Amino acid sequence: MTTTTTPTAATNRLRPRRSCLAVPGSSPRFLEKAQGLPADEVFLDLEDACAPLVKESARQLVADALNNGDWGGKIRVVRVNDWTTHWTYRDVITVVEGAGANLDCVMLPKVQDAGQVTMLDTLLTQIEKTMGLQVGRIGIEAQIENARGLVNVDAIAAASPRIETIIFGPADFMASINMKSLVVGEQPPGYPADAYHYILMRILMAARSHDLQAIDGPYLQIRNADGYRGVAQRSAALGFDGKWVLHPDQIAAANEIYSPTQEDYDHAELILDAYEWCTSEAGGAKGSAMLGDEMIDEASRKMALVIAGKGRAAGLQRTSVFEPPA
Ligand code: GLV
Ligand code: MG
Repeated sequence: MTTTTTPTAATNRLRPRRSCLAVPGSSPRFLEKAQGLPADEVFLDLEDACAPLVKESARQLVADALNNGDWGGKIRVVRVNDWTTHWTYRDVITVVEGAGANLDCVMLPKVQDAGQVTMLDTLLTQIEKTMGLQVGRIGIEAQIENARGLVNVDAIAAASPRIETIIFGPADFMASINMKSLVVGEQPPGYPADAYHYILMRILMAARSHDLQAIDGPYLQIRNADGYRGVAQRSAALGFDGKWVLHPDQIAAANEIYSPTQEDYDHAELILDAYEWCTSEAGGAKGSAMLGDEMIDEASRKMALVIAGKGRAAGLQRTSVFEPPA
């Protein structure tokens, strides 16, 4: 008997999202250009990158771009306006009725509580049923951009099986908590530690406890390549899966920083092989073994699986082979 796996938000959420490219939904030029860029995800924006006067006309532009564009396997997302505006329901209806089959996720900004996610989930289900689309395939990406959203982030992460990612929105967040800096993502002057550590960790814990991806938001100083790298390295080191890119020049940095290095990838694959061998009968069915000077066990295998999984998803190839001890 053959079994086929139908993609759902739960399986799709494992796809790499190292670089998530913001594309203003009102700009035919950017909608065209984004298609050829090597980002893992594109999100066509109806929210803050679209001026109020063009928000309504942008809906159809976005639906047309999804239907007629060649997105080359990228994750295709549309960011709608948040539920405190009057635009959200028509954003969702126009885009999902118009292009639901060519859309992977809806990004919901400024999420404040779980109810805002379930409201979007219900609307998506009704549209999917009406349009004959597979119910539950379109995922939700939830942006945490204010104090209330962060306080409720666990409930938000648990609110729907459609949720694939929790995203940090630093610009709106900094405004929401009155952080004393205008440089998005950079440390406020006068604070001796990392002002973002708690926020990033809080989001990461909520995401990981529900098997979701954690994504870092934008870095607005697009000409400052070192600044982008520094801020990206901070969240990548903690375990974040990717970051927004606002300019094509930021894509290569994100793809590199959120992928394991070749050395770490090779090491992870070696740990997996060595552990498999030592637990096999040929290897003595042991629970732990030595790999060079390093003792490895089931916990090492779990850590190695994460790095190996990210490396494989990023297309890395092994450059070393495991040799069982003679
Ligand atoms: C993104 O939406 C942000 O506010 O940083
Ligand atoms: Mg924002």
